[in-house]
Amino acid sequence: MQTYTFPDHFWWGSAASGPQTEGRFDGDGKGENIWDYWYQKEPEHFFNRVGPDKTSQFYKMFKDDVRLMKEIGHNTFRTSIQWSRLIPNGTGAVNPDAVRFYNEVIDTLIANGIEPFINLYHFDMPYPLQEKGGWLDPATVDAYVAYAATCFELFGDRVKKWFTFNEPIVCVEGGYLYQFHYPNEVNMAHAVTVGYHEILASARAIQKYHAGNYDGEIGIILNLTPSYPRDASNPDDKKASVLADAFFNRSFLDPAVKGTFPIELVEILKELDLVPESATEENVAIIAENTVDLLGVNYYQPRRVKAKESEEGSVHPMPDDYFDYYILPGRKMNPYRGWEIYEKGIYDILINLRDNYDNIRCFISENGMGVEGEERFKNADGVIEDDYRIAFVKDHLRYVHQAIQEGSAVQGYHMWTCMDNWSWTNAYKNRYGFISVDLDQDGKRTIKKSGRWFKQLADANGFSD
Ligand code: BG6
Repeated sequence: MQTYTFPDHFWWGSAASGPQTEGRFDGDGKGENIWDYWYQKEPEHFFNRVGPDKTSQFYKMFKDDVRLMKEIGHNTFRTSIQWSRLIPNGTGAVNPDAVRFYNEVIDTLIANGIEPFINLYHFDMPYPLQEKGGWLDPATVDAYVAYAATCFELFGDRVKKWFTFNEPIVCVEGGYLYQFHYPNEVNMAHAVTVGYHEILASARAIQKYHAGNYDGEIGIILNLTPSYPRDASNPDDKKASVLADAFFNRSFLDPAVKGTFPIELVEILKELDLVPESATEENVAIIAENTVDLLGVNYYQPRRVKAKESEEGSVHPMPDDYFDYYILPGRKMNPYRGWEIYEKGIYDILINLRDNYDNIRCFISENGMGVEGEERFKNADGVIEDDYRIAFVKDHLRYVHQAIQEGSAVQGYHMWTCMDNWSWTNAYKNRYGFISVDLDQDGKRTIKKSGRWFKQLADANGFSD
């Protein structure tokens, strides 16, 4: 039998986001964000046409939910403030009901011994700003920094862990390259500008936070997809893998942690004449000087890459012009989400951070397994027996543990997610929670087997096999 014990004060918990849990118009005075807008305009983009108005109702039920979090062993929990709830038009007046709501959430978490980790942006651009271009518009960067400053002022006395963005690259990929977020475009020039403005907005929010001398830390949450070449001894495959890494990981990781941009990417953008106009000397310096205090790592799947084989030139320039994907023979899959499960990827990320990013203090801010049709695993007592999820967590934690033994500065492990929640275009297709939510019974919560197991894990600060 082997025991895996984690460092003292390890963060055990889960992550969620405001738009996916709170409820769309349930709060007095909430403004519209791009999800509310898109669903009304084109509901066909959403699985079973279920939109952001059908969430798990955290807005009404947060007190019960926090009690359940405590019951399953959380000492930390991340959610996001909805910009469109706090400042309904994106700029201007603050909504007093939102201030009351977020104050209550923060205070309830703290009163239950759960440290709130607050993220400022989880894919949820206020629609009035999107109408003016969203992240394409440099004025959105100013609006975001003002919103961030408002949050620090209102809640910074109690919130000690802030995050500027969750997975900023997903807004780029979804909105401007691969069409799964509004505005659903395919436009590499827009993708680059949007990404740059997010990076700049993050750096400027960090600058603001540090200038305010708050007693806390600020970071960013990135989804890292370690890139593996088909054949590491083949220079073309290796080059393809380095470029995929530059596009999808280092594009945000390098500026966030080091204040620099990957040279391979800069060269490609220069060649394509796609260096954004906002990349002025002044902005480059802001990004260089305002790096994160800590890093959240979301890890779901690796990226398997080979040298470009297909010859079809794309109409628009795309990252995929520089590599092709390949399928690892015998790979392990989450068949429901279509994502490869490769547990060692989490270790590779942590060791990469140790070796190439000055061992930045970090934590696993999301890891998880979405399962379709989980109902069928319900036992006679109505409890979902999700042994696959327990195995999934253990398999990843063994590698996190190994990385710690080898010097990684990882500080915690958060699962996606606590309660089953609504997820963007996938709505409720895949359930990720430690706690099930029955939408037909007023969102009734039932702790799954994995939730009970997580409590034991957190109490013991580890597990044995
Ligand atoms: C993460 C996001 O990438 O993955 C979450 O931060 C999202 O917002 C989660 O819900 C799961 O992805 P999906 O698409 O399977 O729901």
